[in-house]
Amino acid sequence: MSENEKIKLKFQRQLELVKNKKDLELLRASYLGKEGILSISFKEINSIEQSAKIKRAKELNILKQLIIDACELHLKHLQQTQLSEILERECLDVSLPELPISHGSFHPITITCHEIFHYFTSIGFDLVDGPEIETDENNFTALNIPLHHPARGMHDTFFISNDYLLRTHTTTMEIHAIRKSNPPLQIITFGKVFRRDLDPTHTPMFHQFEGMRIDSRANFSGLLGVLLEFLQYFFNNTNLITRVRPSYFPFTEPSAEVDISCSNCNQKGCQLCKQTGWVEVLGCGMLHPSLFLKLDKKWKKQQGYAFGMGIERLAMVKYKLNDLRDLYNSDFDVLSQFNKWHYET
Ligand code: DAH
Repeated sequence: MSENEKIKLKFQRQLELVKNKKDLELLRASYLGKEGILSISFKEINSIEQSAKIKRAKELNILKQLIIDACELHLKHLQQTQLSEILERECLDVSLPELPISHGSFHPITITCHEIFHYFTSIGFDLVDGPEIETDENNFTALNIPLHHPARGMHDTFFISNDYLLRTHTTTMEIHAIRKSNPPLQIITFGKVFRRDLDPTHTPMFHQFEGMRIDSRANFSGLLGVLLEFLQYFFNNTNLITRVRPSYFPFTEPSAEVDISCSNCNQKGCQLCKQTGWVEVLGCGMLHPSLFLKLDKKWKKQQGYAFGMGIERLAMVKYKLNDLRDLYNSDFDVLSQFNKWHYET
């Protein structure tokens, strides 16, 4: 084996072991650097015979070029492996679809409020808002429920003091609206109400909706027309079967309650309708004249109607929820289903 071949073989073996750029540079320098193996061989040419000089120089130049090319190739190879390792480690694939973003959804109570809001504002009612902490006077006395009236017993009240309480119904807003405005007047209001109740069908806090219209032309048939059309709109069913029953509320006379046929069981009887085939959805009536008694004389010749309903009840019937607690358990599986309900605002 010639001297060059020995050098070449040694270089190739060493190159195979090189795993990084630094070692490659060291190896290259040990052959081509100033004190490198090849540089020494070139220097040695001077001491050999003239006739062999050219041949030896040629051979050394070929070997030098071979080492240069091999180093370059190995460098590319190292860079490629380094890149593959980085790609493997970082797993970056820009062509992959983006990760899904989980969108929140409106709570069924909010959706129900928006739908009610949309219907009533489109027929001219104004939205008003009021306090959750109320006086005994606004919550009861002004609504024709004086102290010791049996109707107070139906409102399991959270009293804060002798005079203040957490409102038990949104009907209090009728008193606020009458005091603040002039007739004629059409208002709706939504909000939280509180009663000391806790069982599978009651929670201490729930939501109510209230509406009131006062003007000299407001009458009972107009009230029923508005309510029945609203129920058809809300339940998206023009053939909705409803029934109106006489009832009693201290602040309305006459008073009525409106039921809808139970869509859960097609009136055959189920848990939701308590086996009756009907679901009670709202109370209503013509405003009791006593509400106007203590007021300014501009109210004396007025008449009006009012209606109130529980938002949870409407939501449960519409979205076929069997358990009231589903609305408050923050169960993502239950609530995320409401993504598909859209409404206009
Ligand atoms: N405030 C009543 C309740 O909480 C609901 C109600 C009934 C409101 C009849 C009304 C009405 O405005 O006219 O049960």
